[in-house]
Order: sequence, then structure tokens, then C-alpha cells
Amino acid sequence: MVSESESKGHTPVLPKEVCELLSVSEGETVVDATVGLGGHSLLLAERLGTTGHLIGLDVDPKNLDLARARLADVAPRVDLLHGNFAELEELLSTLKITKVDVILADLGVSSTQLDQGDRGFSFRNDGPLDMRMDPRLEVTAEDLVNRWKENELSDVLYYNAQEFRSRKISKRICMVRREGRIKSTKVLADVVCRSMGVSDGNSRRSKIHPATKTFQAIRMAVNSEIPNLETLLEIAPAFLNPSGRIGVIAFHSVEDKVVKLDFRKRKGEEVYEVLTKKPVTACEEERMKNPRSRSAKFRVAKRLGESVSTL
Ligand SMILES: C[S@@+](CC[C@H](N)C(=O)[O-])C[C@H]1O[C@@H](n2cnc3c(N)ncnc32)[C@H](O)[C@@H]1O
Repeated sequence: MVSESESKGHTPVLPKEVCELLSVSEGETVVDATVGLGGHSLLLAERLGTTGHLIGLDVDPKNLDLARARLADVAPRVDLLHGNFAELEELLSTLKITKVDVILADLGVSSTQLDQGDRGFSFRNDGPLDMRMDPRLEVTAEDLVNRWKENELSDVLYYNAQEFRSRKISKRICMVRREGRIKSTKVLADVVCRSMGVSDGNSRRSKIHPATKTFQAIRMAVNSEIPNLETLLEIAPAFLNPSGRIGVIAFHSVEDKVVKLDFRKRKGEEVYEVLTKKPVTACEEERMKNPRSRSAKFRVAKRLGESVSTL
């Protein structure tokens, strides 16, 4: 269980940059597509005043509950919806909303998901190999790790997380699972370590655990993270008012490249003005205080022209 004090301790990444670049003003409608623990939502709500509207989405109902508690006393109208940002159209239609002024997506997992062993995201805390952010999903990491062929596994590790040791790792996983299903995060982490000739990832000098990329790649597959991001980027222009802003915080190069290419394409089509020539990253002070910010890359684009449906 995550206590409320723990959720209060959560610090959103790039808080100043998000507020400045999204430049939310009173009375606007903002979609926080990944409300998480409500950190960014709280900051954005402060700028919306009593006439604004904050819509928060999350696939994880437990995070939504935490966000609900944190956002209970803010001034604007708040609607928190359980759902995937790839289903933005359906979710907004439940509120009879067709256009918004700002969309923010802070991608990936939250600290609550990572820290709780029973969610199966962590190679440090043992738990069932689950990794579903959304409990409605039917396929878990255990299903995929025990089902994929060796080359499929290797491709997922390479393409999702650029794990250069993907072949060695997938070979070892396939060897171990012949003896029985791989069911826990600890077993998977140990298999990855052994494929690299390391006995225990936690005791290594390097700060990065050898299983980091493997876990990231499998989590991305379980939760269809890249396809969901591509869908959000595809549909976003249709929901943004003229001069509306979309901001995406990515945490690794695969995600960031998807955002960069989408914004570049829309700029060419005169749908967006790109407000960030290069991705905005955290300053040294934030990097020291909030380690999660070290890999954050924030890009923002502004909707141009008339409000034309591109769906
Ligand atoms: C990094 S956290 C967001 C933290 C949040 N910005 C804050 O300040 O507290 C990412 C959140 O996005 C959610 N999420 C991931 N993919 C999603 C998707 N496709 N649709 C909706 N929520 C998603 C996760 O469940 C998680 O709660």
C-alpha cells in the first residue's frame, strides 16, 4: 500500500518548464493524459482558476484514487477518468467535450507502480511478473516472457529498449523456462544477470541494474506503450483548439523519437508550430533532487490555424 504521505512526496518532473511552456491560463480546459499522482495536475490547476476545467486520465485506478485525494480542494472543475489516452475521443465524449486547450503526457510508470513489488514492475522488489498498469489488460509480463519465441523476445528487448545484449538474454530466458515457467520478477532479474555473467545485480558497482532495459522493454510491450503514444499523437490535433498546446515528457530515446518525428511531420503540414527546437531537459539542481528527472525529455507543440478535424 502507498500511504498518502508517500504520494505527497512525489515530485513532478520539469515543473517550471511544464508550466512555462504550456502557459496555461485561467478558464482553459486542460487534459492531463497521465495524471499519475496528480503532481503536474496540481500545478496546472493553480493556473486554471475557478472557471477552468482539468481532465485527468490514467489507466491505473489506484493512482487515480491518490490523485483524487490530492486534487480534492483545487479551484477549477476536475474530472478524473479511468482510461487510456489512446481512447481520448471516447473519454472526452463522456464529458461532452470536443476541444481542449492543453494536452500533457508524462509517459511511463509512476513511483508507486515501480516501488510496489506486487505490481511486478521492479527488479529490486520481488513480486509476480505482472507489469500491467491497467488491470483491465489480460496479458501479463509472465504470459509474454513464457510465450514469445527466442527471436521475438530478442527483438522486443532490442527495439523497445536498445538492449544490445538482447540475444544473450533471450537465449538464457528460453533455456531457463524449459525447466519451468518464469513467474517472478526476481527470477527474471537473476536470469538476466546470469546471462551477463553477474551473480547479483544489486551488489554491482554500476548504478544501473543489468535488468533495467529488459524490464523496461517488457513493460512497454505489456502496456503497448509505443502504439498508445502513436495513437495519442495521431488524434491530438483534432482535439486542440487553435493555439492549443501539446506537451510530452519522454524518458528514453525510443519514445522521444516518436514525439520528435510526429511534431516535425505536423510542422511540415502546418498543423503545429514546434515550441521546443531541442527537447527540454532538467537542470543540474533538479537532477540532484529528483533522479527520475535525469532522463526526462520534454517537447511542446502549438496548434496552428483553424480548428480542423484531422481524424
Ligand atoms: C510518470 S507517471 C505520471 C506522473 C504525474 N505526471 C504526476 O506528476 O504525478 C505516468 C502515469 O501515466 C499512466 N499511464 C501510462 N500510460 C498511460 C496511458 N496510455 N493512458 C493513460 N495513463 C497512462 C501510468 O499509470 C502512470 O500513472
